Amino acid sequence: MTTGVNILTEHQFTVDQRQLTCHVTGEGAPLVLVHGFPFDHSMWTPQIEALATNFQVIAPDLRGYGKSAINESDASKGVDMATYARDVAGLLDCLQVREPIILCGFSMGGYILWQLIKQSPERIRALILCDTRAAADSPEASAARLTMAKTITDTGVEPVVESLVPKLLAADTFAKHPEIVEQVSTMIRTASPPAIAASQRGMARREDVMAELANFDWPALVIAGREDAISSPAEMRGIAEQMPQAKFVEIAGAGHMTVLENPSAVNQEMLDFADSL
Ligand code: MLT
Repeated sequence: MTTGVNILTEHQFTVDQRQLTCHVTGEGAPLVLVHGFPFDHSMWTPQIEALATNFQVIAPDLRGYGKSAINESDASKGVDMATYARDVAGLLDCLQVREPIILCGFSMGGYILWQLIKQSPERIRALILCDTRAAADSPEASAARLTMAKTITDTGVEPVVESLVPKLLAADTFAKHPEIVEQVSTMIRTASPPAIAASQRGMARREDVMAELANFDWPALVIAGREDAISSPAEMRGIAEQMPQAKFVEIAGAGHMTVLENPSAVNQEMLDFADSL
């Protein structure tokens, strides 16, 4: 893929004995985009194109997604958010990124972001949180994830498409943008069942970081889609209010997949924030 004059380059590295892929383009301060569940780096295509004009954009595929490998044991044991965070840090080491990064996480990518900032605060320059949560799952939500993890190998991904897609997009997106509905459905359809099982088990037991938000004292941009049914604007505003240096923005015309549903508004917010640092 070309991004204006910038070429998106695919890099493969061995991290924790797994071959992981990440995509890099642009020049400038490093900005890392961590994708959500069950997607891959391509969900960031509009942001990669916009941000690469001013930044070195680094977009990993988490283990099991895109071209990144996963082990059988990852699917059966689950992959914790802290493990994905160590993978991202390992990729940054392989790329020899030594400067503090602007770290951006979407949804599950945000759960990973909380772990990375706790593991390696010295790596962080600023944060961008898109449509994510700081709370852990309710017992019911957690149980539903474990059921999906157990059945996905038998059922395949189609039930995941059917249950997930209606929650991901705003009403207007369903009515007026069949191409976005198709893009999101295709990303889920092409995700691998072991990766889905691994993430669901990991998310089901993820840590609640609500009580720690006041300690996350970095410049932060908190972005929520106005119709997000998974991480509501009210919940995300609450996250921003507890972080000492956070700014909250609500994006119109978007559900959970804000970055794809209203990319021009999201890109402008991200660029204004990152350029102001
Ligand atoms: C995501 O988009 O990453 C998922 O909605 C996260 C989740 O299932 O909690």
